[in-house]
Amino acid sequence: MRLLVTGGAGFIGANFVHSRVRTAPQDRVTVLDALTYAGSREALAPVEDAVRLIEGDVADADLVDKLVAEADAVVHFAAETHVDNALADPEPFLHTNVVGTFTVLEAVRRHRVRLHHVSTDEVYGDLELGSTQRFTESTPYNPSSPYSSTKAAADLLVRAWVRSYGVRATISNCSNNYGPYQHVEKFIPRQITNVLTGRRPKLYGSGANVRDWIHVDDHNSAVERILADGQPGRTYLIGADGERDNLTVLRTILRLMDRDPDDFDHVTDRAGHDLRYAIDSTPLRQELGWTPRHTDFEAGLRATIQWYRDNESWWGPMKDTVEAKYAERGQ
Ligand code: NAD
Ligand code: TYD
Repeated sequence: MRLLVTGGAGFIGANFVHSRVRTAPQDRVTVLDALTYAGSREALAPVEDAVRLIEGDVADADLVDKLVAEADAVVHFAAETHVDNALADPEPFLHTNVVGTFTVLEAVRRHRVRLHHVSTDEVYGDLELGSTQRFTESTPYNPSSPYSSTKAAADLLVRAWVRSYGVRATISNCSNNYGPYQHVEKFIPRQITNVLTGRRPKLYGSGANVRDWIHVDDHNSAVERILADGQPGRTYLIGADGERDNLTVLRTILRLMDRDPDDFDHVTDRAGHDLRYAIDSTPLRQELGWTPRHTDFEAGLRATIQWYRDNESWWGPMKDTVEAKYAERGQ
């Protein structure tokens, strides 16, 4: 298969490309990535001989048209992804997440190419703390942030292009990922690298907010299943029953890194901070036979901590800039 992966130099996309090269070595994989602050050539270094990396903007219609014309399928990861950045400056989120997705849709429509669109559970808004409710495919869209509203807009464009033009597209909405190559602006790698650089971890508000954690390899194995056997037009929710509040996650990191459980700072809470996310992924499991493999969260976290210990050359150069930006916002 000739596969075009947008955003393949970012966290989830790079892990997807690594595993695809291992499991389908006969594929021809092209990555289209703008190499923004969140994308890096180094993330693809382990597979550089097996992958073609094109540096470019997913909203560049001519470039996207040319690359889609050469592909059998597109997996669309490219996005601006960090809620705190979206609150500070939403414009790039409109450009990449909305116009970028529109650009991909127009190209797959013209060339009749299969598309898988990667999205987030944040499009559904949030759930009450302490409730047992979970998001399903029929939960109404109710995004809270400039990030989630642009992802919601992108998902709705995909649905409309399926219905209006018969585009063969699937959508997946996944919960919070963790694992190797995640940018140090995000919660788990930020706290690990704070400890590794002698800084104190930073918790927003009381830390009661709940996220539903999934290992990036489990997200990607689900994307593989959907790409292979998903029904065009369908939305699949991806989650691994990994609900934990932020304080618990932080204390687990501190324990695994031999630090005192109170060795962190409470900082200014995020504006509009979503309370709780939780995914019901029953249809994906029953219809496509997917099951997550990395369900021991502590083991996954321990391996992730070790990865950040071993790969300071990858994240070290970004760390000071990220922390300087957070410090300006009192976070
Ligand atoms: P990331 O920020 O680590 O990587 C995004 C990648 O997209 C980067 O390589 C970046 O250079 C590239 N990119 C950004 N703007 C671009 C543009 N205009 N043109 C081309 N490339 C561009 O993000 P991630 O965490 O790997 O997320 C990947 C996808 O998965 C996103 O669509 C995100 O919404 C979705 N998602 C993420 C999570 C999560 O927990 N991280 C959960 C569910 C869904
Ligand atoms: P994040 O990784 O930004 O993912 P998202 O907001 O998209 O779910 O944050 C995960 C949770 O951790 C979220 O509730 C905000 C919180 N958080 C902190 O407490 N401290 C931090 O330094 C960061 C970056 C996030």
